[in-house]
Amino acid sequence: MPKTKKEIGGIDDKKPKVYKSLRGFRDILPDSQVYWDKVEDAARKIATDYSFDRIRLPYLEQTQLFERSVGKGTDIVDKEMFSFVDPSNTKVTLRPEATAQVVRTYIEHGMLNKPQPVKLWYFGPMFRHDRPQAGRYRQFWQFGLEAIGSNEPIIDAQIIIICFRLLKELGLDVTVQINSIGTPESRRDYIMELVSYFKQFRRQLSETDKKRLQKNPLRLLDSKEPEIQELKVDAPQIVDWLDDTSKQDFMKVLEYLDEAEVPYELNPFLVRGLDYYSKTVFEIIPNVTREVVNENEEEKSQNALGGGGRYDGLVEMLGGREGTPAMGAALGIERIILAMKAQEVPINKQREIDVFFCQLGEAARRKGLSVFEQFRSAGITTGEAFGKGSLKTQLEMADKLKAKVALILGQKEVLDGTIIIRDMESGAQEIVDVKKVVEIVQKQLGG
Ligand code: HAM
Repeated sequence: MPKTKKEIGGIDDKKPKVYKSLRGFRDILPDSQVYWDKVEDAARKIATDYSFDRIRLPYLEQTQLFERSVGKGTDIVDKEMFSFVDPSNTKVTLRPEATAQVVRTYIEHGMLNKPQPVKLWYFGPMFRHDRPQAGRYRQFWQFGLEAIGSNEPIIDAQIIIICFRLLKELGLDVTVQINSIGTPESRRDYIMELVSYFKQFRRQLSETDKKRLQKNPLRLLDSKEPEIQELKVDAPQIVDWLDDTSKQDFMKVLEYLDEAEVPYELNPFLVRGLDYYSKTVFEIIPNVTREVVNENEEEKSQNALGGGGRYDGLVEMLGGREGTPAMGAALGIERIILAMKAQEVPINKQREIDVFFCQLGEAARRKGLSVFEQFRSAGITTGEAFGKGSLKTQLEMADKLKAKVALILGQKEVLDGTIIIRDMESGAQEIVDVKKVVEIVQKQLGG
């Protein structure tokens, strides 16, 4: 027998290639939607309650926008951007975050002429070519809030309060960590001090940290390398270098949080990984996640459900009006859902319906299309299984979906212009005029 191409080591061209999603890119399947819906609904509600307006922005931007705002020397810009040259020779990037683009939008659409602060929220995917692991993906979703045009510390507090309350409402046990990194001017002196402190221990630093010491010394403070953990205990702390306004503003933010009964921890090492921040910075960490996110050493920062801070210099840096202050935050949706699962937040996984429509035979199936539509347009949640033939199977589905009422349409009922209403609890059945069925069921359901 002649050998097949595969047997002699070639590619079996009869078998089609099976494709898989890209590494770090996840399909969000129907089973998970209850979590996604719950988070998105709660996010939309709280953002609207606090007078934020929704904005939907493109996923692709000019690369330079992120290089300038997030900053060269940050992990995001140096290592994690999905950038390419498009067919018209423009250098573009899949957005790794949305703050820079919200600022671009604010400037491009002249929003500085609106009452300030302009408060915007978004919910959408971001892209970072990071090393994928639990809670870290290459495409992930964020819910974000940006308030541009006010330097009042109450705005800082409001953003933190919204993030905290949202996570609480979703049933999560979380901690807010907060710090102030001052203005770029006050930070400059601090950074010099920090560099001279770490230079003494240069030999003990890893190669990555040596680079950080040169390029972005602040990032040494949230380095995960074990030797830094010991060294940073005695490192100079940024709060001691704050200018008076930053210090006063920080105190006010803390007072507002106390007033709103939002518990927080001061974390002198919290600096965040993006360059645009000034003054208040914060992150929110879940209190229990270890079972789910345990296999990575970088546990602490992996865990952050969200974070944010002030970015008073960014609008001006991107060509907007001088001195326009801003504050914002973003929460990671996948991480929130992981935490909800880890903390076993109760969630109603089963879609519940009022009515289930059952049909028997081709004529009933055809007539059923319009009966089903009448129920749907009357706003009654109705299930169906047009693809199924057996009444038993259909009634079992009705039962599983906790329908209060099942409608049964057979050959005879189609001819008579009737339909059977079955009370799913008692099993009692009545035959009614098909033209009146919506009205009758509506009454039975108490609507
Ligand atoms: P960020 O800390 O880079 O901040 O991201 C915010 C949140 O997005 C993180 O706390 C985390 O929950 C989630 N996240 C980040 N990277 C990933 C990833 N690879 N996989 C899964 N989730 C991830 C920002 O993006 C700022 N734009 C926040 C902000 C808004 N600051 C001011 N305004």
